[in-house]
Amino acid sequence: MADSIKIFAPATVANLSCGFDALALALAGKGDEMVFTKTDSGELKITKIEGANLPYDIDDNLVGTVAKAMLAEANVDLGIDIEIYKGFKPGSGLGSSAASAAGTAVAVNHLLGNPFSNLELTKFAMLGEEAACGSQIADNVSAAIYGGFVLVRSYEPLEIVSLPVPDDLYVTALHPQIEIKTEDARNILPKEVPLKTAIYQWANVGGFISGLYQNDYELISRSLQDHIVEPARKRLIPHFDAVKAAAMNVGALGSGISGAGPTIFALSKGKETSENVKNAMQSVYEGKEIPFNIFNSEINTSGVQII
Ligand code: HSE
Repeated sequence: MADSIKIFAPATVANLSCGFDALALALAGKGDEMVFTKTDSGELKITKIEGANLPYDIDDNLVGTVAKAMLAEANVDLGIDIEIYKGFKPGSGLGSSAASAAGTAVAVNHLLGNPFSNLELTKFAMLGEEAACGSQIADNVSAAIYGGFVLVRSYEPLEIVSLPVPDDLYVTALHPQIEIKTEDARNILPKEVPLKTAIYQWANVGGFISGLYQNDYELISRSLQDHIVEPARKRLIPHFDAVKAAAMNVGALGSGISGAGPTIFALSKGKETSENVKNAMQSVYEGKEIPFNIFNSEINTSGVQII
């Protein structure tokens, strides 16, 4: 049993247009690092935070919520010093709280000798999501823990299905430097959905997953549509329609809001297309009033990793 471990916890793109709260993917090229060291203090302590302005008080940080729940369930009194190195900003729509929660769940599990399954770790990490945004959402945390694409098939009881990752898929993410709180982005969603709209949406979830299994990029492309959440949320994201149109014009398979936003994602087949998509999306934001960053990433297939 290790006394100290360092982990990489990936950023994630939730919803993937058609699958609100049910679909997500993990990114290879973006994430946090965290170090967990056993101590004799008998206390959980956050000893370092770099890259974001987050609370050191263990009772105020979701990392503490996740670790405390795990130690209580394992019935173990353990002192742990925790260092957090954020690789991307909270409020980006790229699963910042989920990376911290999933990273903590996997790391504490290792320090305990791995008593918990990935499904149990997802449940612990969901407590962290609840602490951060008020809801026990599973999409980002399960993608960060399992890696690849995931489907949250059921919340009660929780069931996570790992989906295949076609070889040639690339993700582009443009992050306007404005913060959208997940809670706020959830509060503006419609409370009811017309049956006709629901049919579009669940048919597209089926189409998207079939596309992943069959390596059918055209089917994936046709299925990346959101008739429910995107229309309500896109007004929170400046230039959303122009960025999406720019991505689609140069061959993206689809483009939409990453999680609760403001990050706008696109999926592309092939590295060359994803470079063109990145340039096209970037050109919309260049010279505009809002600072942004943009990157391309492959899909992370291993989830939180010990490094
Ligand atoms: N599925 C969630 C949402 C992801 O879109 O609100 C954000 O945590």
